Amino acid sequence: MNLLSSKDLNAKQMRDLFLRADKLQPISERLEPMSTELRGKTICNLFIDNSTRTRLSFELAAKRLGAEVLTFVPGASSISKGESLRDTVQNIEALGVDAFVVRHPDDGAPKAITHWTALPVINAADGNNEHPTQALLDCYSIREVVKTDDFSDVHVAIVGDIKHSRPAHSDTIAMTALGAKVTLVGPTELLPESPAWKNDQVTLTDDIGAINDADFVYMLRMQHERHGNSFDTGSYINAYGMTAERLKSLKPDVLIAHHGPMNRGIEISEDVADQFQEFITRHVTNGVTTRMAVLSMLLEES
Ligand code: CP
Repeated sequence: MNLLSSKDLNAKQMRDLFLRADKLQPISERLEPMSTELRGKTICNLFIDNSTRTRLSFELAAKRLGAEVLTFVPGASSISKGESLRDTVQNIEALGVDAFVVRHPDDGAPKAITHWTALPVINAADGNNEHPTQALLDCYSIREVVKTDDFSDVHVAIVGDIKHSRPAHSDTIAMTALGAKVTLVGPTELLPESPAWKNDQVTLTDDIGAINDADFVYMLRMQHERHGNSFDTGSYINAYGMTAERLKSLKPDVLIAHHGPMNRGIEISEDVADQFQEFITRHVTNGVTTRMAVLSMLLEES
């Protein structure tokens, strides 16, 4: 089995995965010794694009399950001499690995890899497409707060560059599958026209007032590398950023999150980022736990 998209797991499979994560949480959070569940297995972290949280949490997840980790460094690899992705994957498989965790700047690269290897492939974010393990850790973090995995009474808002955001796409699929209402808000030019992942529980709007009754608000990183710095960041924070002033319009118990990396002062002000630091970093801790559950499930089934 592969995990390429949030669509690859239905609601029951996600809920089962969260139960598996609950069992692994004491190991993930180092309250119990490392597991030997994946002893003898080797996970290849094939990251052709930059990452802090995802790459390091997959590395820790694999190690806390007793697996070895092979970290591919593109700048020091033969990709820099022109070797293709296909040859790279097939040579790494020949070295002896049991799964690939792939981040790539091109949409669909992890899926392409599944045509070249029979080993499990996990999408650790591809191009502007998806980031399914981010969605799992976001849902797991919401579940921890609402104390149920039925999100029918939960309203999640996601604000910013919806068009280019892989977490926004994967979150929308996963959160609505669990029952949530999802409101996607951003400037018109950063909203996708008719995304395939939109459904009846999803609203797309440029009206920032639509987040006022949300229970959770995820602020998206302004992806300067995709817009050629064409956005006036001074006006963006006032129009769509999360500031102490905007917070006053929201529900009193709203929780503000950010997938990271954050541009403080652009999509979220310093003071709001600091105020919700605990909830934001809780997602990062939960990233290790949920990725342990993903590796455990996929390698059990392979
Ligand atoms: N949230 C996230 O994917 O962060 P990284 O790019 O640092 O992995």
